[in-house]
Amino acid sequence: MSELEGYVNSTPTSQHLQREAEKYLPGGSSRGTAYFEPYPFFVDYTKGHHVTDVDGNRYLDFMLNATTYVLGHANQSVVEAVKHQADRGLSYSRPAPSQIKLAEMLCNRVPSVEKIRFTNSGTEGTLNAIRAARAFTGKHKIAKIEGGYHGNHEYVSVSVYTPLGNLETNKTTSVPEWPGQPPSVVEDVLSLPYNDLETTERILSQNADELACLIIEPVLSNFGYLPANHNYLQGIRKLTTKLGILLIFDEVQSFRLASGGAQEIYNVTPDLTAFGKVIGGGMPVGAWGGRNDIMNFFDPTTNPIITHSGTFNANPMTMTAGIATLEQLTPSTLKAMNSLGDTLRGKLRSVFDELNVTAQVTGIGSLFGIHFTNENIVDYRSVLRGDSNKRANLFKALLEEGILMQTKTAGALCTLTTPREVDGLVDAIRRIFARGDQ
Ligand SMILES: Cc1ncc(COP(=O)(O)O)c(C=O)c1O
Repeated sequence: MSELEGYVNSTPTSQHLQREAEKYLPGGSSRGTAYFEPYPFFVDYTKGHHVTDVDGNRYLDFMLNATTYVLGHANQSVVEAVKHQADRGLSYSRPAPSQIKLAEMLCNRVPSVEKIRFTNSGTEGTLNAIRAARAFTGKHKIAKIEGGYHGNHEYVSVSVYTPLGNLETNKTTSVPEWPGQPPSVVEDVLSLPYNDLETTERILSQNADELACLIIEPVLSNFGYLPANHNYLQGIRKLTTKLGILLIFDEVQSFRLASGGAQEIYNVTPDLTAFGKVIGGGMPVGAWGGRNDIMNFFDPTTNPIITHSGTFNANPMTMTAGIATLEQLTPSTLKAMNSLGDTLRGKLRSVFDELNVTAQVTGIGSLFGIHFTNENIVDYRSVLRGDSNKRANLFKALLEEGILMQTKTAGALCTLTTPREVDGLVDAIRRIFARGDQ
C-alpha cells in the first residue's frame, strides 16, 4: 500500500476542508504543529482519550493538544465548570475571584512561586519572565539551550529548529529562525549545549556582566522530553546564583510531571517559572511567577516598574477550567500516570530490542519520545543525528493504525490512560516494524 493511502481514502472531508482552508489561511493553518503532509485531519470532536475527525475516524490520542489534556478530553467537571462560568460571562474588565484561587493553588504547589501573573499563552509567559529578569538585573542578554523552544516571540526564536549543517562544529551557535530578525536579537541570545555543565560554565562566566537570565526546560520537550541530568541542573543553579544571572524554568510542559512541577523532582529552585497548557484546563493560558522581589516589579498598587496588560489575562473561563483541572490532579493520580509512563517506555524498549530496531526511548513520567539512532540522546545535536525520516514514517504508520502522536514521535499519557491504551500503542508499533514497512 502506498504511503498514507489508507489515511487519504478515509479522510475525504478533511482533504476538502484543507483546500478550503488554503483559500484564506496560508497553507490552511494557523499553527505550526497542526499541519502535516499530505494534510491534517480536521477534528469533529474529542472525548476522553480519543479524537474523532470530520469523516468519523477515531484516533487514540497521545498528543492531547501538545500535552494539555492531562485529564483526557472534555473532562466532565471541567466542562461543567466552564458551562457554569459561561452563563455568568466569558471575560470581565475587572478581576474575578477565580484568579485568586488558581494563583493560590499554583503558589501552594510550587514553593519557588511566591507571586504569579496570568497570560493567554505560554509564549507570553516566557516573554514576561525574560522581561522581568532584564528589568531586575539591569542586564540585556539571555541564554537559552540550543534546540529549545519557548514559544514564538523574538528573543527565544534563536537556534530552535536550526538544521545540523548550519551549526558550527564543537561550538553552540546562535542562529536566527527566520529572515529579518534584527541582528541585535541574535547577538543578545547565547546558545548553550544541553547537559554540558563545563561549556555552560565557560559561556556564562564570560558573559556574566551582560547576562540577565538563563531560560531552560528541566525536561526538554523538543528532544523527546529529555530530562536534564541531575548534576547538570543543580550545577546550573549554583552557577547562575554565583554569577548573578536569574534562572528561569520553562515548565509549560513539564509542570504535569509532579504537583510542584519538574523543579520538585529535581529539588532545584529557579528564580522564575513560566507555565502554560495544563494550568488552563484546555482554555488558552500562560503564566509566569517566582520570587516576590522580582514579581513586585509588576505591582500596580505601587508604581509598577513594568506594566503588563492583556484583555483576556486571567479571564474567568480559563481560571475556572484551570481550577477544575488542578483539583483532580492529585499526587496519587500523578503517581499512577507517571508509573504507566515507565511501563510504556519499558515496553517500547523491549519491542525495539525484540525486532532489532535501532532506537532510543526518552522521557520521564507521563512524557515520552522515540528516536531512531544508536547514539545516546543527550542534547539537540544527538537528536538531529537520529533518522528523522524513520520518525516521520512511524508517525504516519501510527496514524493509519488509528493512533495520534506528535509528528516527531513524542507524546503524553493522561489520567485516563490504562494498560490497555499503553498496549494498544506498543502493539501497533510492533505490527508496524514486524511488517518491515519502516
Ligand atoms: C516548552 C514550551 N514553552 C513555551 C511554549 C509556548 O506556549 P504557547 O503555545 O501556549 O504559546 C510551548 C508550547 O508548546 C512549550 O512547549
